[in-house]
Amino acid sequence: MANNTLTIRDNRTGKELEIPILEGSEGPGVVDIAKFYKEFGLFTFDPGFRSTASCRSRITFIDGDEGILLYRGYPIEQLAEQSSFLEVCYLLLNGELPNKTQHDEFVKLVSEHTMVHEQMLFFYRGYRRDAHPMAIMVGMVGALSAFFHDSLDIQNPRHREVSAFRMLAKIPTIAAYSYKYSVGQPFVYPQNRLGYVENFLNMMFSVPCDDYKISSVAARALEQVLILHADHEQNASTSTVRLAGSSGANPFAAISAGIGALWGPAHGGANEAVLLMLEQIGTVERIPEFIKRAKDPDDPFRLMGFGHRVYKNYDPRAKVLRKAAHDVLEDLGRGDDPLFKMALALERIALEDDYFIKKKLYPNVDFYSGVIQSAIGIPTNMFTVIFAVARTIGWISQWMEMISEEDHSIGRPRQLYIGAKQRNYLSLSQR
Ligand code: SDX
Repeated sequence: MANNTLTIRDNRTGKELEIPILEGSEGPGVVDIAKFYKEFGLFTFDPGFRSTASCRSRITFIDGDEGILLYRGYPIEQLAEQSSFLEVCYLLLNGELPNKTQHDEFVKLVSEHTMVHEQMLFFYRGYRRDAHPMAIMVGMVGALSAFFHDSLDIQNPRHREVSAFRMLAKIPTIAAYSYKYSVGQPFVYPQNRLGYVENFLNMMFSVPCDDYKISSVAARALEQVLILHADHEQNASTSTVRLAGSSGANPFAAISAGIGALWGPAHGGANEAVLLMLEQIGTVERIPEFIKRAKDPDDPFRLMGFGHRVYKNYDPRAKVLRKAAHDVLEDLGRGDDPLFKMALALERIALEDDYFIKKKLYPNVDFYSGVIQSAIGIPTNMFTVIFAVARTIGWISQWMEMISEEDHSIGRPRQLYIGAKQRNYLSLSQR
């Protein structure tokens, strides 16, 4: 009997099957159950995919118990400290850090694709001014499919590459415009002379009637937020992009689906929910009341920004963001920012509570990102949009990896049917 197999026995029939165990370069191996249904006439059952690997990937590795996160093998802490967002984008897309020539060419190429088709600006006008910016993002990114008929053949590697650059370059513009539209200010066009993050801040906050000075503190803080949110293995929105893309849908439509999935408060919508929760708690004295609610199985209230499907240790991104939040507030002379103090107090109290210790609930990436974004003037309803701007490179990289695989096929899970058995139609008079 080979030692890299799992033997499954159906005790109803005595039938046994040796299933191969596949090992990766890091982390848990997998059992290849592709033949399982054919051999046993049974489906595997794993709602929420807690024990299911959906694909092979070389992009991001997470060790949830040790709190490790690697982009193409590089620790997130080193990239957040020493790299730039566009350099991380190059790394995620290509698998290696760029040399100077490759870096400069990549930055130039992205900066030359930042404008959106002028016709797209009319789409914004169809939204109510108070529409949530994520609702606008879902629509505008999907609408890119209507403008790039020259690069939608996903079997063509060049089309995939062009779509990737266009998506990466245009997502900050689309995001900034969703904010400008919501505040009734004119759209600010991208400036190729500015860096990726500076360009975004300028499109967000500059106005035609005044000079806008880009804060280097805000730019560096936002750069770290983008780097830390860029990719995260097969999370809900990335899995959505992969599933949508597996049907052959164009990348803009697939990423629009990913944006929709990210919006949920259990996922990317948590950073906005954290800020709203901190404001709802209001004072440090009221924290125990909310901790009590979070522990009450009959109360749907959850401590937003805490817990994670994979991390059963401190989310390494939260550690970096916690320090970045402290540094930004100090640099801005707001070391005693009430929201940050509230977040620190909530974190301390929660981490001392048996419930959170036993269930291994630690702060996740969303817990501090809202504090940083709030400190640099990003409005709360734009937090998840910023997450989408960052994660776009992750979605694109994972989509490219999937489509480039020779044996990729449409994703089509099965089910455990528990509905009505077959029955005959009854006419109205018989019911
Ligand atoms: C992101 O997947 C990713 O990688 C996502 C992400 C990425 O980069 O893409 O990391 C980004 O989405 C981070 C997570 C942001 N979401 C939140 O902060 C929302 C609050 N967190 C929870 O909703 C929850 O922790 C989840 C959704 C994040 C994880 O849920 P799981 O893995 O399904 O865990 P669970 O719901 O089964 O919880 C296990 C137990 C439960 O208690 P029991 O049923 O065992 O009694 O822990 C409890 C939960 O009730 N629990 C919480 C809690 N999170 C879990 N109790 C109170 N407050 C919480 N926040």
